[in-house]
Amino acid sequence: ALAQTVILVDGLGPVPVVKGDPKLLPRKVLQFVAQKAFLMRPRAIYICDGSIYERDEMARKLTAQGVLKKLGAYSDAYIARTSPEDTARVEARTFVTTKSKKVTETKKPDKGSSEIARWMSPEQLSDELDARFPFCMRGRMMYVLPFSMGPIGCQFSKNCVQLTDSPYVVLVTRIMARVSPAVLDAIGDGDFVKCIHSVGVPRPSVVKIPHNWPCAPSKLIIAHRMEKKEIWSFGSGYGGNSLLGKKCVALRLASSMGKAEGWLAEHMAIISVTNPKGEETFIAAGMPSGCGKTNLALMKPALPGWKIQLIGDDIAWMRFGKDGKLYAMNPENGMFGIAAGSTDRTNPGALTALKRDFVVTNTAETSDGRYLWQGLEDEIKGQEVTDWKGKAWKKGSKAPPAHANSRFAVHCADYPNIHPLWDSPKGVPISAIIYGGRRPAGIPLVTESFSWSHGVFLAAALKSEATAASVPAATSDLQHDPMGMRPFIGYNFGDYLKHWLSMEKPGRRMPKIFHVNWYRCHPVTGELLWPGFGENIRVLEWIIKRTTKGQYPAVLKSAYGYLPRQEDLSLCGLQVDFKELFKVEKKFLETELKETRDYFRAQLYKETPARIGIELSEFEDRITRM
Ligand code: PGA
Ligand code: MN
Ligand code: MN
Repeated sequence: ALAQTVILVDGLGPVPVVKGDPKLLPRKVLQFVAQKAFLMRPRAIYICDGSIYERDEMARKLTAQGVLKKLGAYSDAYIARTSPEDTARVEARTFVTTKSKKVTETKKPDKGSSEIARWMSPEQLSDELDARFPFCMRGRMMYVLPFSMGPIGCQFSKNCVQLTDSPYVVLVTRIMARVSPAVLDAIGDGDFVKCIHSVGVPRPSVVKIPHNWPCAPSKLIIAHRMEKKEIWSFGSGYGGNSLLGKKCVALRLASSMGKAEGWLAEHMAIISVTNPKGEETFIAAGMPSGCGKTNLALMKPALPGWKIQLIGDDIAWMRFGKDGKLYAMNPENGMFGIAAGSTDRTNPGALTALKRDFVVTNTAETSDGRYLWQGLEDEIKGQEVTDWKGKAWKKGSKAPPAHANSRFAVHCADYPNIHPLWDSPKGVPISAIIYGGRRPAGIPLVTESFSWSHGVFLAAALKSEATAASVPAATSDLQHDPMGMRPFIGYNFGDYLKHWLSMEKPGRRMPKIFHVNWYRCHPVTGELLWPGFGENIRVLEWIIKRTTKGQYPAVLKSAYGYLPRQEDLSLCGLQVDFKELFKVEKKFLETELKETRDYFRAQLYKETPARIGIELSEFEDRITRM
C-alpha cells in the first residue's frame, strides 16, 4: 500500500490528509485541527493553499455535484446555485457569547430581545454546539483554510484558520480573503482566530438535498465566542453565514477587539475621489446591506474629469495615526456584491470587474455561458436562459431570473479602477464619513452634521428599508440600523456609541460626518427624486468642498443639520426638484425624534450615552424653534 499522510487524532487514530503537509502546520493549528477532527469526524483532511489548482479542484468537485457550472464566456468563472432555503444571512440565529452578559447587551427595561448583538451564555452555547457539531462531518472532507484579514503578516491584520466541509466556501474564501500557506508562517507560535463551519449534513444523508446544496436551516446557528476568538457556524453554506472572515471576523469580532484596543471595525466602503484638478480625497461610506456601498465604490462619475477608485466596498478598519488623521484599511481581498440589478447604468464597474476568476451565486445564466440577472434582460439575443433555481426562464416570466440577494464574488485586484493603496496595511486618510439608508420620505439628499457628536447621533439614528440581504425581508418597512451596523456590532450598543464618541480627542483631525439619502421619493407621485448612481458624484463634490480647507461654501442651517444652498450643488444638465429633495418638515422631524427616542430607550435604556441624550434634546429644541 502507498504510504499515506495522516494526522493522528487522540482517541480516534490516523485521519488521512489528502492534500497538504500537516508537518508544516504550526503546533497550535495542528492541535486545533486534530481536536476538531475528533469532534466532527471527517473522512479526511485537506489543507488548503489558495492556489488556482485548488480552485480548479473545488470547481470540478462542485460541478460533479451539480452545484456549479462553468460560465464559458469568461475565463475561470462559475455560477453556483444554493438551496432556495439558504440564500441570505440569518440575523435571528446569530449570537455573541461572552462570560458577562453586559459586555454584549445593554440591560433592557423588559425582557425584549436585543436587536443588536444577541447574547448567548457560554453554557447555552456549549449545549447548542453539543447538539450539532459531534460527527457533523461524517463522510465529508474537512478543509483547513488558513486566511488573513488584511495583508498577510501585517501589524493590524488578523490570522484565521477556518475548518469547513464546504468546497464552495473554499472556492469563495479564496477570492474574499487572503488564503495562503504564508498565513501559517505568519501564525508561527502565535494565536489565530478559530473558525469552525459545517453545512450540518453528515453522510449518508437521510434527507433529500435540494439542488445538491447541503444545509440545515432548522439547526442554523452562527456564534461568536469573543473571549476565545472562536466563530462557530452550522447549517448554512451561504455568504455571511459561512464566509466567516467577512461579517463574523472582520466586523463582529473585530469591532469588539477595536473597542478594547481603541480602533473601529465598520460596515463601510472606502473610496478615493479625484476632482478634475487632480486633488484626491478619501471617503468612508457606511450603509446597511443593499443600500449602495458597492455601487458607490465602483461608481463611474457622471461629471467629466472626476474619478473614483476603490479601496474597499464593505468593511473598513479605522484607527487614528500619530499625525492625528483617521486611517481606513480594507481587510478583505474581494467583493461579495449584490448581482441582481447591477447594470451598465447602476454599476458599470461591477461589470468591468467580472471578466475572470469570479463566482456568481444564485444568478441566472444564458446558453452561451454568460451570467444574467434583473436589469440585463435586454442583452438576451435568442439565447436560452436558466434561472437561479435551474429552471428555463423567458423574458416576461413572472419570477425574476436571479434571486434578489444573488451575489458576485470577485478579486478587488481584478477591478480596473482599484486604488494603488487598496492593500496598504496602513490604509488611507479619511476626510469625510458619509452615512445613508433607503429613506423614501422626509430625509434630505445630503446633510452635514454640526459636530462629531451630532454626526455620531445622526449615524446612530440611521434607518433604512429592509433589503433581501438578510432573512426575513418580507416587509420593506423602515428598520433602525445604527451606522448600518445593526447585524454586525459585536458588543454592547451603548459601549459602541461611547466608543465612537470617544474618538474625538484634542490633536485629532476629525473627519466631517454627513448623511446622504439617494432614495427620497416625491410625496405625491412616489417617484425617486434623485437619479442616483453616477450622478451621486454631484453630492460628493459638495461634501468634498465642505471638507477641504479654504473652499467652504456657506450652508443653510436646518433642524436636521446643515444643508447645501442650491447654487453650491452642481446640478447642470439634471432636471431635479431641489425643493422636494431638501425639504425639512417639522411634523416629519417630530415623528423622527419620537421614534429615535423610543428606539434608544428600547435598545439602550439606561446605557444611552449622556452625549446622545444631549443630542436628542438639542434636536428637540431645534424642531421646537421651526
Ligand atoms: P451583506 O454581506 O449582506 O452586508 O451585503 C453579504 C453577506 O453577509 O451575506
Ligand atoms: Mn455588507
Ligand atoms: Mn456590497
